[in-house]
Amino acid sequence: MVTGKPIGLAADHAGFELKEKIGALLGQMGYSVRDFGAASTASVDYPDFAHPLANALENGELQRGVACCGTGNGMAIALNRHRGVRAGLCWNAEVASLVRRHNDANVCVLPARFVSEAEAIEMVKTFLDAAFEGGRHQCRIDKINEQINNS
Ligand code: RB5
Repeated sequence: MVTGKPIGLAADHAGFELKEKIGALLGQMGYSVRDFGAASTASVDYPDFAHPLANALENGELQRGVACCGTGNGMAIALNRHRGVRAGLCWNAEVASLVRRHNDANVCVLPARFVSEAEAIEMVKTFLDAAFEGGRHQCRIDKINEQINNS
């Protein structure tokens, strides 16, 4: 992976157990991890964990994150309100590769209730190893923020 910075982790109650597994895996792989919570399977609200992760990405403390909630959509929607975040919902390793290569995503979002632990781990490894291809994809990324009203 490209960074010496920690990998940021965030989850709600539905993604908590998967986040814990991914955190342990990343530690075994030699990454440092910054865990923004949640801290248990007790019911919480995903924006409370998405926004701190996004803020840390935007201010340069992190370069990559992994976020988990039940479907992945709540996390993706909240994270993508931040200009410096491109959070990609992933459901298999090919998508996890493409979201880095084509969309330059900096957060891998996982639908914890709809993927197995093995599938999630494969996606995270793929996401962290894949590199943005630039070229025509950079033009498209530039247009994401250019065409928002009041940008
Ligand atoms: C929690 O029950 C669930 O709604 C949440 O994890 C997520 O799927 C929302 O997008």
